[in-house]
Amino acid sequence: MITPKCPSIHIARQVMQTAMDTDVKSNFYPPLFFRRMVCALLLCLLSAAAHAQNDPGQSPRQRILIDQGWRFMRYPGQDSLGQDQEPDSLYYDKRPQVTDHNDQKVADTRADITGKTGGVGGVKSWILPTANKFIKDTADWYPHPVGKSPGQDFAFVQADFNDGHWQKVNLPHDWAIDKEFYKGDPVPVGGGMGRLPVQGVAWYRKKLNIPAADKGKRIFLDMDGAMSYAEVWLNGHLVGGWPYGYSSFRLDLTAFVHPGGMNQLAIRLDNPASSSRWYPGAGIYRNVWLVKVNPVHIDQYGTYVTTQEVSANKALVRLEVKLNNQSGNTADLRVVSSVYALDEKGNVTGEPLAGFTPVELRLAKGKAATALATAQLNNPRLWQPVGFTKDINRYQASRYEIRSLVYNQKGQLLDEYQTKFGIRDIQYDANRGLIVNGHKVRIQGVNQHHDLGALGAAFNRSAALRQLEILKEMGCNAIRFSHNPPDPQLLDLTDSMGLLVIDEINDCWQKGKNPLDFHLIFDDWYEALLRSFVRRDRNHPSIMQWSFGNEVGEQYTDSAGAALAKRLHDIVHEEDPTRPASASMNYARPLMPFGRVMDVLNLNYQGEGIRDAPAYAGLQGIHTSPLYDSFHHQFADKMIISSESASTLSTRGTYVFPVTKYNSAPASDTSGGDPRNLWVSDYGLYTAAFGASPDKVFAAQDQHPFVAGEFVWSGFDYLGEPTPYYAAKGSYSGIIDLAGFKKDRYYLYQARWRPDYPMAHILPSWTLPGREGIVTPVHVFSSGDEAELFINGISQGKRYKTPYTYRFRWDSAVYEPGNIKVVTYKNGKLWATESLNTAGAPAAIRLTANTDTIHLAERSLAFIKAEVIDDKGNLVPDAQNSIHFTIRAVEADTDANARQVKIWATDNGDPADLHCFASDNRKAFSGKALCIVGPSSTNKENKLANDRDSYKVERAIIYIDAECEGLKSARLPIYINQ
Ligand code: GAL
Repeated sequence: MITPKCPSIHIARQVMQTAMDTDVKSNFYPPLFFRRMVCALLLCLLSAAAHAQNDPGQSPRQRILIDQGWRFMRYPGQDSLGQDQEPDSLYYDKRPQVTDHNDQKVADTRADITGKTGGVGGVKSWILPTANKFIKDTADWYPHPVGKSPGQDFAFVQADFNDGHWQKVNLPHDWAIDKEFYKGDPVPVGGGMGRLPVQGVAWYRKKLNIPAADKGKRIFLDMDGAMSYAEVWLNGHLVGGWPYGYSSFRLDLTAFVHPGGMNQLAIRLDNPASSSRWYPGAGIYRNVWLVKVNPVHIDQYGTYVTTQEVSANKALVRLEVKLNNQSGNTADLRVVSSVYALDEKGNVTGEPLAGFTPVELRLAKGKAATALATAQLNNPRLWQPVGFTKDINRYQASRYEIRSLVYNQKGQLLDEYQTKFGIRDIQYDANRGLIVNGHKVRIQGVNQHHDLGALGAAFNRSAALRQLEILKEMGCNAIRFSHNPPDPQLLDLTDSMGLLVIDEINDCWQKGKNPLDFHLIFDDWYEALLRSFVRRDRNHPSIMQWSFGNEVGEQYTDSAGAALAKRLHDIVHEEDPTRPASASMNYARPLMPFGRVMDVLNLNYQGEGIRDAPAYAGLQGIHTSPLYDSFHHQFADKMIISSESASTLSTRGTYVFPVTKYNSAPASDTSGGDPRNLWVSDYGLYTAAFGASPDKVFAAQDQHPFVAGEFVWSGFDYLGEPTPYYAAKGSYSGIIDLAGFKKDRYYLYQARWRPDYPMAHILPSWTLPGREGIVTPVHVFSSGDEAELFINGISQGKRYKTPYTYRFRWDSAVYEPGNIKVVTYKNGKLWATESLNTAGAPAAIRLTANTDTIHLAERSLAFIKAEVIDDKGNLVPDAQNSIHFTIRAVEADTDANARQVKIWATDNGDPADLHCFASDNRKAFSGKALCIVGPSSTNKENKLANDRDSYKVERAIIYIDAECEGLKSARLPIYINQ
């Protein structure tokens, strides 16, 4: 055994808090010198214990990923219109009949759909008790029905049912994403939800081998997210479920488990059409875990860490550990916790830095209790958001981990639990904005929906990381996860990358936005949803704020809406009083009661004014003059954030003429829109009816310096909500398109958000056949303050940034093929240049990738960009060549490697392209296409393939070929790591 050296530490006074049903044995207040001695000794022991923990065999807690080897079946015949019939009788509850399938409403339409589920049959009463754990008042708990559980005789839940003909799938799984798009209208799922077959009922089955040694343990099923109305059976018993598709939830399988044998898990999902304003995805689209613990254990989301008195010299760390005694006896317990530093990858480094003195307690059988302790950490490395320094690569998202160990009276280790956290101080200042660790941090944020483009809702860490890296390069330092909690892994990424987060629970309360929206079950589930949401996420340092709703219909109902808002707000605060809680407002005005409930004012579009500029006059819908000043005046102590700004619409690399003379204009068929191709011009000036161009938003922010910043709608394009062209499949509002390619306005944000980064960007592309001699406005985005444009070497004059202008415009420029170049200056000095040449005919394909290696075990992906280029290597910006992608191995003995990876999807970022994502062929759009390559199957299957071919290497190579008739093809090597 290694005997570690114990660092000297300062121990803070330890206290223990009694919880609802705590049975306290003793508080622990020995004299100071004794505490120091005990603590030093403990740290040594803890450190040794931590070393022992590295051996998974010794851990009393097991958390096993069970993503592989599932069978899946979606009932056939659900793709026809009017499919309101349930294919079996195991539905959650009868839903109202949908009469209005129109999901083409403007996004800021008032939410006023009411209606409830209810009627004959349904398994709802068996599902509701799953919520109890998150309902505070036990008097409100849902009773457990008695008798035979529904579905007990149903074939799909039986162990001997032969599911051999069902599809083999691994999780995370989105059953709709690789299917054909619905084209035309009416279709079962239209543009609003992304034109993919997400609707209907489907089943997943998996056999679980539970060893005899697990007898006596508590066994839980943890699902990070299933879309939607999940109902779970084990060995024929309905265990419970969770209807809201974006929540993580746990089911206690213990009572139904057969240790020492095969156990049959069966999960029914039911995903209604007309239930969402965007693509929800479909299926078990996040990880699933089996958690095995001793009957006496730390609860789900069982720790809560907060920090106080944070400074560069010290921080007071406060820890709550919630314990459950599900054994048949009283337990005398000792909880010891210590703090470790984490490296950038989230791994523990070195010895414990500080310890909490142990908490001892007696816990009666069937009871739960919370142990509270504090410790002081000296010279803490603070968690800083990116952008804290000017250089985006110089930030310190420093994190720590607390290891909590639970011992019984005999000193046996009963449980161990790790909690990652960060130390930072955030002030929400009504006049200065966000102050992090004493420094003002301007919020440069974006909104992100949960889909990953061509990969759908099925979470993949490397795909999410790629999105965040592209955003960070733009200067983005904050994400609002609109309008649902993200995959838990995404919060680990924002923690480690230093991105601030607004974590949001939902898009509607009692008043729905779609006929089968969440309002149907709101009253039954809101408390459980809110409490489980906050408990899951509250230790993440990146979360700066909770949002308990977005643009809800209750904004319109005066004091009644405000009263409901207050109830929700207070639940959030009970779970985490350390962060502000708010709901985003696009309608509630300063004098209405709704805003009074909010800790921070999250305004959607209202600050810069809605339909307020000259180009918006005469539009139908909410009209609001700019409200920053009046909100600030009314709520002098509340920080204001633009939680949604812009909703600027554009299609990458498409330009529609003439260009509006305004700095912001609504997109329409006659203003920026191309109704034939379903494109919106990429000048970054055209917006949703209620939106504002980036330029208009920037001006409003600069004129109101008390505003803490903005969250642009949206960072990436997403599936669904294809305003203004309903026939398309995805949004136009992203700064980055669905394939992850940057639109022109990416550089407008970069120019503002990274003022010290020398850059200049010209638009439009300079390959515009047919426009020779025609006026073609040229705009330049640059972090410089002065710019001179040259067309074929001839100066078009200089432009200067004046107050509240953010782009350089040469609106009378005339297109001439050849070269266009801009030279920018800052403070009188040369700053950045850009030069574009008119491209010749398409001649070849060029391939590049975001990585050179696919890691099979991590299911990491390679995103390969294909560009159509001319014979001089210029991108051909209007190329639409159809590209075929193949994975090849050059030598026979590497065939096995080629089989280990596959093409997951292709895309080109065009929201109007309805060619299936799963295809190996993709038409280039504005010169580019994307091919996503990743592991082909489970690692186990990969290993089998390797064994069959007697070919085992740790690192191998494969080639991605991109071919197109008439073009020189391209080949890119990619390494495969086991
Ligand atoms: C907002 C809404 C978002 C999205 C956006 C579209 O009103 O909150 O969810 O619909 O408009 O531009």
